[in-house]
Amino acid sequence: MAAKIIKGTEVAKEIRQELKREVEELKSKHGVTPGLVTILVGEDPASVSYVTAKQRTAHDLGFYSVQDNQPADISEEALLDLIDKYNKDPKIHGILVQLPLPKHIDETRVLYAIDPKKDVDAFHPVNVGKLLIGEPDFLPCTPHGIWQLLIRSGAKIEGAEVVIVGRSNIVGKPMAAILMQKHPNANATVTVCHTKTKDLAFHTRRADILIVAAGRPKAITADMVKEGAVVIDVGVNRIGTTPEGKAILCGDVDFDAVKEKASMITPVPGGVGPMTITMLMYNTVKAAKLAAGIKD
Ligand code: GUN
Repeated sequence: MAAKIIKGTEVAKEIRQELKREVEELKSKHGVTPGLVTILVGEDPASVSYVTAKQRTAHDLGFYSVQDNQPADISEEALLDLIDKYNKDPKIHGILVQLPLPKHIDETRVLYAIDPKKDVDAFHPVNVGKLLIGEPDFLPCTPHGIWQLLIRSGAKIEGAEVVIVGRSNIVGKPMAAILMQKHPNANATVTVCHTKTKDLAFHTRRADILIVAAGRPKAITADMVKEGAVVIDVGVNRIGTTPEGKAILCGDVDFDAVKEKASMITPVPGGVGPMTITMLMYNTVKAAKLAAGIKD
């Protein structure tokens, strides 16, 4: 039987509606307006489109939102000064520096300069460490989005064999940390595979939940997937352009073949993608609540 398609676009919309109500309540009951600044250095077209989408969503949810564009030749010191300014600005609860940064800027130094309480990407080592010990303030946006997709689709996570393909700091590692926590919606047995894994298919075939962030188009074929598995595809590979100039996207999973074997699967596009920006908004609301001492 063909798999149920997990529609990230719809789950993202549902969470945004919840956030919108929460923002209205924060404003009316507490006089708090979540504030997000997105800092864009240079004019890389992909980064411009991501940042524009983040700003549009922040605006739609009723945030105080600031788009701060800086020239590609800004010095590292000037960028650090800018971050310091927003660290001290009480109207700003979340600071996002769009990556990648130009080569002359040390990305690590910039990310470490963001106040961990305003680090809505959750890339700062304080937030990475807090996640690992099971006391997170913020979860990184893409793995948090995947977690929400699993929970809201009714996937059984507790006790499941979860196999993650890819060990990046942004997806694979934090995804493993989230799903192995002692938490009723986690408590999974997690395996992380990577480019040096000896027999990838041996591991993926054991997975009840297979999460793929390998960065290779159609890296996962149907013979590598167990009957009835839940398959989450984080891949965004541009495999061509339409005559109108739009990118043609494909995931890391051979969707058409795997959907005949899986019980649930995310499409590309319209699966994990829409969740990432939504969880950034969630983190900004959470940062505003933490700053104001408001409990959930
Ligand atoms: N560039 C691509 N993805 C991301 C992200 O999640 N956060 C930031 N800051 N930059 C990115």
